[in-house]
Amino acid sequence: MMEGTKDPVEAGGSASASPPVDPGPTGRAERAARRKAFAGRYALLPLRLFLGVTFVYAGLDKLADSHYLAGRNDPLSFYAQTVAAKAGSPIGWALEPALHAPTFFGLLIAFGELAVGLGTLFGLLGRVAALGGTLLSLTLFLTISWNVSPYYLGNDLPYLMAWTALLLAGTPYLSVDGYLARRAERDRQRGLTESAVLRRTVLDGGIAAVALGGGGLLAGSLTATFVRRKPKPAAAAGSTAPAQGAAKVSVAVADVPVGGSATVKDPSSGDAVYVVQPTAGQYCGLSSVCTHAGCTVDPPKNGQLSCPCHGSRFDASTGAVLNGPAVKPLPKYTVTKDGDRLDLGAVQS
Ligand code: FES
Repeated sequence: MMEGTKDPVEAGGSASASPPVDPGPTGRAERAARRKAFAGRYALLPLRLFLGVTFVYAGLDKLADSHYLAGRNDPLSFYAQTVAAKAGSPIGWALEPALHAPTFFGLLIAFGELAVGLGTLFGLLGRVAALGGTLLSLTLFLTISWNVSPYYLGNDLPYLMAWTALLLAGTPYLSVDGYLARRAERDRQRGLTESAVLRRTVLDGGIAAVALGGGGLLAGSLTATFVRRKPKPAAAAGSTAPAQGAAKVSVAVADVPVGGSATVKDPSSGDAVYVVQPTAGQYCGLSSVCTHAGCTVDPPKNGQLSCPCHGSRFDASTGAVLNGPAVKPLPKYTVTKDGDRLDLGAVQS
């Protein structure tokens, strides 16, 4: 060591007293390039985690929902939702088989989502999982979200685009696919023949797939058996009159123009209700909660209420469904005129 210089290791705690060593322009450029390469390599990881978790959750949620496979008499069932989607979809004809075997197709979709989610999370056959996600999202876009206007309010199109990115990139990092690919490379360098490398990769990939598939089946079956939610009771006509003693909910007549609405709150549920005047002198209240999946429908416009989530449309004078995927009308409330006030009454239907 040159006299007068200090070895940083020897210097120990006193190293902080020395001025930091400038790596120079080349060193800084290398570090920046390394950081960029690192960020680029893991750029799709947040998207992959989101899609994986969401699809696992969506699959398990369907299996835990007692309405999902309840059959044609339940408006929240897979069957009823498929009937509604078929009516307004450009690929309605392709949904016909699902109506003949709704239980099979309902389970296929739920377990398919689970498999896609797990494959994506673990990065096992990542491109195959992304292809599954792409096809599922494309189907949902062409059926459930097809009537959403404007198109960017529907959520299946963004999912479709997100899956396409993963389909192109695959899951080469922090994944089973990546591990198998790196091991295959090491095997080649060790001098294994290409067929031996392939055999080892297929065998271990197959074992991982069977283990993950078995885990998914077990998780799905346990969810369907033990985590099943109780069915929501159907609202009976006239059964939700405001509770005794509840404050009267009213709105000024002047606030409800013909074709327009004013928003009040149902004192029993806390949900927003649109008090509407579809034709001069005719008043009623319509729940703002979409009967498809609970989004808030927009206030009436041009005689209709539209749901921004999947495009259901409802008649502004009756609450009847004009366009699915909702199959049940919006709950309708009586509204009585009392001088210059309009009082919200009970749910009629
Ligand atoms: S159409 Fe799906 S929540 Fe309204």
